[in-house]
Amino acid sequence: MLVKSIRPWDLSESMVTPEHVFINRRQFLAASAATASLGLIGGGTALAAGDADPTLDLYPAKKNEAYTIKRDLTPERVNANYNNFYEFGSQKGVAAACQALETRPWEVTFDGEVETAFKIGIDELIRKMSLEERLYRHRCVEAWSMTVPWTGFALKDLVALAKPLSSAKYLEMKTFMNPDVAGGQRATWYPWPYTEGLTIEEATNDLAFMVTGAYGKPAAKQFGAPLRLAVPWKYGFKSIKSIVKFTFTSKRPKSFWEDLAPAEYGFWANVNPEVPHRRWSQATEKVLGTNHRVPTVLYNGYGDQVADLYKDMKSEPLFM
Ligand code: MTE
Repeated sequence: MLVKSIRPWDLSESMVTPEHVFINRRQFLAASAATASLGLIGGGTALAAGDADPTLDLYPAKKNEAYTIKRDLTPERVNANYNNFYEFGSQKGVAAACQALETRPWEVTFDGEVETAFKIGIDELIRKMSLEERLYRHRCVEAWSMTVPWTGFALKDLVALAKPLSSAKYLEMKTFMNPDVAGGQRATWYPWPYTEGLTIEEATNDLAFMVTGAYGKPAAKQFGAPLRLAVPWKYGFKSIKSIVKFTFTSKRPKSFWEDLAPAEYGFWANVNPEVPHRRWSQATEKVLGTNHRVPTVLYNGYGDQVADLYKDMKSEPLFM
């Protein structure tokens, strides 16, 4: 339902929660309760509590001055306590639950249409890359935004490492699957594991960034440690967290939200203030950590870098 009579700044969180989510909230609460009663136990050999992240020496990384912004940074304590990570629940306060995720050992698979499929441990992968800090805007489809100092490396460097064949037109990414740790994954009505996709042209655009850290240190688990995407010209749901697999393919991947609610969420999901979501306006955004609501900008302000990617695609639903 598109709520036209209500001003955007009157939107409560429940109004921008996807319909299927609140329809299923009762089921979800039951699943969460089951998780809590079982306790959250991780698998594999984890970093013991208090162990330093094995890549800690790489932080803080040098700032790339090409990626700065005029807005104030969102304070870390605000960002770290207001997250979307449905594997751990559909509410924003998932930070504590996320700490059950064991991010070492963490193996990343590259397969599909590549010269040779391979797996690599996250620490070896990170050390092959050149880490830098970039300040990026982030615009969630739910009409809130933040500004984050991410650390990581260009996704195009990862694509080069994977050596895709010329037949590969898309890059599909998948999150871990472990319902014992991530109680939200017991909610069977979601198409787990969380999946996202980009065209190869998008994935090799300079702006597409693989995040390993934030605020000058390895990324907190709720931010999508140990490896998360940041594609700031797209709605935030494209920026998949805690990735374990990259598949190069000639077939367009179907992403998590697109699979669940295709009338509301599409493959492209480029930010556009003039194309409302079916149930709310996208004209403005609430800036996290402030009382301000500001106008949303086409491609979230990154049009100079990305608009050309879409110049011959006018018939595609580029903005949902
Ligand atoms: N990735 C996974 N695996 N699971 C999720 O639920 N939520 C997405 C995206 N990546 C999500 C995800 C959405 S809707 C947004 S807005 C951002 O992560 C939120 O990132 P943040 O919690 O760091 O603000």
